[in-house]
Amino acid sequence: MADNNVYIFDTTLRDGEQVPGCKLNTEQKIEIALQLERLGVDVIEAGFPISSPGDFRSVEAVCQAVREPVVCGLSRAVEKDIEVAAEALKKAKRPRIHTGIGTSDSHINYKLRSTREEILERAVAAVRFARRFVEDVEFYAEDAGRTDNEFLARVIEAVVAAGATVLNIPDTTGYCLPEEYGAKIRYLKENVKGIHKATLSTHCHNDLGLATANSIAGVQNGARQIECTINGIGERAGNTSLEEVVMIMRQHPYLELDTNINTRLIYATSRLVSESMGMPVQPNKAIVGANAFAHSSGIHQDGVIKRRDTYEIIDPLEVGVDHSKIVLTARSGRAAIAYRAKNIGFDLTKDELDAVYAQFLLLADRKKEVEDQDLQQIITGHRAKAKTVKKASV
Ligand code: KIV
Ligand code: ZN
Repeated sequence: MADNNVYIFDTTLRDGEQVPGCKLNTEQKIEIALQLERLGVDVIEAGFPISSPGDFRSVEAVCQAVREPVVCGLSRAVEKDIEVAAEALKKAKRPRIHTGIGTSDSHINYKLRSTREEILERAVAAVRFARRFVEDVEFYAEDAGRTDNEFLARVIEAVVAAGATVLNIPDTTGYCLPEEYGAKIRYLKENVKGIHKATLSTHCHNDLGLATANSIAGVQNGARQIECTINGIGERAGNTSLEEVVMIMRQHPYLELDTNINTRLIYATSRLVSESMGMPVQPNKAIVGANAFAHSSGIHQDGVIKRRDTYEIIDPLEVGVDHSKIVLTARSGRAAIAYRAKNIGFDLTKDELDAVYAQFLLLADRKKEVEDQDLQQIITGHRAKAKTVKKASV
């Protein structure tokens, strides 16, 4: 893969599925995995096999269903976890074990009740153990975002020497600022011996709304894999959203970074995940929200009708949305009325437009959104009335 290519590691089926109430059954997981394969993701994290027999079966089933992407199973730095993950991944064409441990002082002191030296040893032992089963082992340094860089570099150097092929640097708590996270990746790139043998990966959470910005800062500073989910779903405030990072790289070619994603399948994938999980997408969500390509103010509508890119930086077709939307509200102008009227078959004269617009405003002040049927009624009502008046005057 060329150096400017960024691998997309999709964890919708693992971190994404940790959202309360979003549990998927095996059939749904297979359907989503197949769609992710069509979308062109490089890695599918299919689950956490030791967590439940159902998750184990789902990981096995995803391994059998997809051929192209790497299939990854999560584990803690615990031998039993790793063995079970290896077992679930047995039928994968390209299996990867994802193992790791907390490296921040908070995790070491309070969660793991351990010491830095012990954690370093456990990290190395886990990677060595996982390498007995598969060649592709990804190591995660949980809470790397709050881990001091010197210690993090020691851990990463040791796991690379033990055979880790991918190094996941999670901002588990979504705490970092983009500059800080980017500097962390750069620090590892510049200070870890043997780093060139492995791929650095970002895994950012969205607690402060910075997951996407942090992931982009990561790849600008040398990471070449982004871990993300469809619609940004995931633990607490969610993970980096796939559609956002992919489109940022696509829309900013000067970054000289790109992915293998077929962006035209983004919207359909978003719908499938939302419907399967029963998790609605917020209307103002970037790229895939219902309003992402909807224009409601008169000034914007006038611009978009004259030329789409005055107010749209992405052609909706590029992400599989078939058209931009001109929404009729009390803030809409004459240009929007003429445009929507034409769409439903009415070419309005200037006088007609003035009259229809006046009636439209009365309705729009009462109704949040004026629909095509409302507009049609206003126009036909106006034309009927105009005919009667004309007849009466001859
Ligand atoms: O957020 C995180 O640190 C994780 C790891 C288990 C990779 O999800
Ligand atoms: Zn996570």
